[in-house]
Amino acid sequence: MRKGMVGAFLNVKGANNVRKLQEIAVKETRLGIPLLFGFDIIHGYKTLFPIPLGEAASWDLAAIEKSARISAIEASAAGINWTFAPMVDISRDARWGRVMEGAGEDTYLGTKIGLARIRGFQGDDLSANNTIAATAKHFAGYGFAEAGREYNTVDVGTSTLYNVILPPFKAAVDAGVQTVMNSFNTLNGVPATGNKMLQRDILKDAWKFNGFVVSDWGSGMELTDHGFARDLKHAAELSANAGSDMDMESYAYVTYLKELVETGKVEIKVVDDAVKRILRVKFKLGLFDDPYRYCDAAREKEMLYNPAHAVAALDVARKSIVLLKNEYVKGSGINLLPIAKNQQQIAVIGALADDKNSPLGNWRLASDDNTAVSVMEGLKKYTSNIRYAKGADVVRGKTEFGSPVTVNEADSSGFKAAVQLAMSSELVIMVLGEHGYQSGEARSRTKLDLPGVQQQLLEAVYAVNKNIVLVLMNGRPLAITWAQEKIPAIVEAWQLGSQIGNAVAQVLFGDHNPSGKLPMTFPRSVGQVPIYYNPYNTGRPGPKTEVFWSHYSDESNKPLYPFGFGLSYTSFTYSNLAIHDEDPANIKVTVTVKNTGKLEGEEVAQLYIRDKTASVVRPIKELKGFSKFSLKAGEARQVEFILTAAELGFYDNTGTFIVEPGEFDVMVGGNSTEGISGKFTLK
Ligand code: NOJ
Repeated sequence: MRKGMVGAFLNVKGANNVRKLQEIAVKETRLGIPLLFGFDIIHGYKTLFPIPLGEAASWDLAAIEKSARISAIEASAAGINWTFAPMVDISRDARWGRVMEGAGEDTYLGTKIGLARIRGFQGDDLSANNTIAATAKHFAGYGFAEAGREYNTVDVGTSTLYNVILPPFKAAVDAGVQTVMNSFNTLNGVPATGNKMLQRDILKDAWKFNGFVVSDWGSGMELTDHGFARDLKHAAELSANAGSDMDMESYAYVTYLKELVETGKVEIKVVDDAVKRILRVKFKLGLFDDPYRYCDAAREKEMLYNPAHAVAALDVARKSIVLLKNEYVKGSGINLLPIAKNQQQIAVIGALADDKNSPLGNWRLASDDNTAVSVMEGLKKYTSNIRYAKGADVVRGKTEFGSPVTVNEADSSGFKAAVQLAMSSELVIMVLGEHGYQSGEARSRTKLDLPGVQQQLLEAVYAVNKNIVLVLMNGRPLAITWAQEKIPAIVEAWQLGSQIGNAVAQVLFGDHNPSGKLPMTFPRSVGQVPIYYNPYNTGRPGPKTEVFWSHYSDESNKPLYPFGFGLSYTSFTYSNLAIHDEDPANIKVTVTVKNTGKLEGEEVAQLYIRDKTASVVRPIKELKGFSKFSLKAGEARQVEFILTAAELGFYDNTGTFIVEPGEFDVMVGGNSTEGISGKFTLK
């Protein structure tokens, strides 16, 4: 450091630690340039919010922005001035563990959510002491790893690249994101870190990005493993020339860049440009005015785990819960949810119900273990008629950050006690799913079922008591097809962070009416993956004949739950779709949404279009607008959507954005498969 060879740190935290290092940089190096302190603040710093995929299910941009804002407030008080978030990778593959870190499968929703997160981190004034630089990552294509296997090859066509993968990054750049992180994967044969087309031609030249590109961890040196660079020196040459400005953890630039300039392999203007970009971000953060503005131990003490942050975490946690099913058991006539507050004898079964750690999710480098309100703790605030049996363990994911707890995945010795408890209870709440460390980076799965013996446990309990509310905790879509057929009530609770227990209890007991909608399709079977709501029609959408159409012979094409799906304790109807297409630059679509149930509730009205004929075929459906609002019982409101060229156009295979006249279908509804439709012709 004293030689001036360090410009940024990652994973250093704490106001005092950061101040010490910053002092060395400022006072003891030749140029006195302050340092950047980067950190993965993905869903909170100390106070943990829902995992990003879960939070995306809220479709609530204000709540999402607030969660990023609070994360920045806590982190900046602890010395951090740069986060490696948001991940704006679109992914259609639930096998990929990192779907937990994104906003799901859809480019339109993912873009809006990415922008909300960037606003939350960076605020209006980057030089304020509680705003931090954001990173749009991973540029590009990381979410399309073949077969969902982490770090695997990415080979996508131009239409998918331009229309699905790149738009959230372009929007982030237009909104002023300060940094972009490149990616571990190859894209069509060229590793992202050494990819000139991505980093120079598209990002810096076409989009005029003036922040800097940071490599992913060691992705520079991995150019050799990819078979793209001969050795580390060659990797430094290729990455610098391709536009990767800062080398995270490969030690390639610090070792070889000087020599590469001296031997003419890298022009000095390439280095100057990278330096200028990094310095610009440091200036914008205000570090040259006051290098210690993020190092205030008193503010740190006040802000970390601030009680107001818990209130916000609870708010967004509740909003992220998705009600997947709510029916009654034969004969009773009353839906299982919400649970009557005077309910007699409730059994709670499943290791995750009593877990204060797993629900904190995967990315929580700064937070403290076992700080979540468990589901049991949350439920006990509502009733004392509650008894618990573990039944079975949940398989622990591997962690490099703490000692992994090993459990016997096949152990069914707890079944007997759980079954007995269920037999002597009126209602059973089963909390099953994945451990928090079973999704995230390098946690790909080939199965999408309930891991371990949890499925067997569910069936054993069902055999004695059918009044089951299944609460799922998971970091990816699961193929819980048996449960959907048999279990009367299913609630998707992801890993909701610090406040999960309170959020789940408030939803189950009806103090909060659920309004979340899935940001990713849930498959019926892992063999359907990648499954998503907006594929192309194919030439044989069928069924035209018995056999020769695009389908599986052993499974339906339909998902278990479609994108955008989520129920409420009330019901909504859609009517009066009207399309005003007089001004082709501004097409207005209106619908009436009415709350036809007995409770106040929030709905997310979703607008989908289909461009019927185009020079490059368009998906059968594309989300192009949504609106979330609350309606009292019996209340109706008119909802308006505006379609402009931005929504109606697309990128052709050269990457040019075009708008083609012709016929469009429009559908508005409460999920991607149900709604009312109309059409218009774009002149
Ligand atoms: C690797 C991950 O891919 C990236 O998203 C993260 O920011 C870095 N590690 C730094 O922790």
